[in-house]
Amino acid sequence: MIRIGVLASGSGSNLQAILDACAAGGIDGAVAVVLSNVPGARALERARSAGVPGEVLPSKGVVDRDAYDALLVDALRRRGVDLVCLAGYMRIVTPSFLQAFGPSAATQGCPRVMNVHPALLPSFPGLHAQRQAVEHGVRFSGCTVHFVDAGTDTGPIIAQSVVPVLPGDGEEALAARILAEEHRLYPQAVQWFAQGRLSVSGRRVSVRDAAAPAVDGLASPVLERADR
Ligand code: GRF
Repeated sequence: MIRIGVLASGSGSNLQAILDACAAGGIDGAVAVVLSNVPGARALERARSAGVPGEVLPSKGVVDRDAYDALLVDALRRRGVDLVCLAGYMRIVTPSFLQAFGPSAATQGCPRVMNVHPALLPSFPGLHAQRQAVEHGVRFSGCTVHFVDAGTDTGPIIAQSVVPVLPGDGEEALAARILAEEHRLYPQAVQWFAQGRLSVSGRRVSVRDAAAPAVDGLASPVLERADR
């Protein structure tokens, strides 16, 4: 059973998906603490409803990022956290934070900080990923769960899920379609971590005994002749 610390700035629907999976036995672990940099964030309310301790560390106006992240590390260590999940956490974590939750023997060399991003990385990192995808005119987008490194959305990819961008989609419609996939993908990736099935070699993450997708090819718009 792993102890999970979740960092969230907003609505916390991914936090909810992780809480629900823990309660339903889909994750061999429990959320030990939810930390938010935004007072009044809905994520804190979700923590309260689930009986999980929540703490606010307001970040507004904070200039010393290392000192701020040291407080986070303290709060997470106090709760004995094994894995940190960023879930709609709108701050970049510092190298010293990442070092505090770096690879350990117990994790087969896996870092101990994960994030979910609403695009198929390395496309559309950073803010407004869904808007970037719509404006770029891609036919598919999706979400990525990855280990966090010092860059913005650049860490080793654990898993991705694809959704189509449909004609007429705006940012919101695409975001909703992607979010539903995030809620499936993130708890699964956390469970793989909890089961000790992840390992990292360079940029590449392996998931022991995971099934490969059955799809040979996926075109959009759908191709009209099967023999082409
Ligand atoms: C998600 O789309 C996540 O990928 C992005 O911010 C959104 C957070 O949603 N980083 P929620 O707070 O989990 O509902």
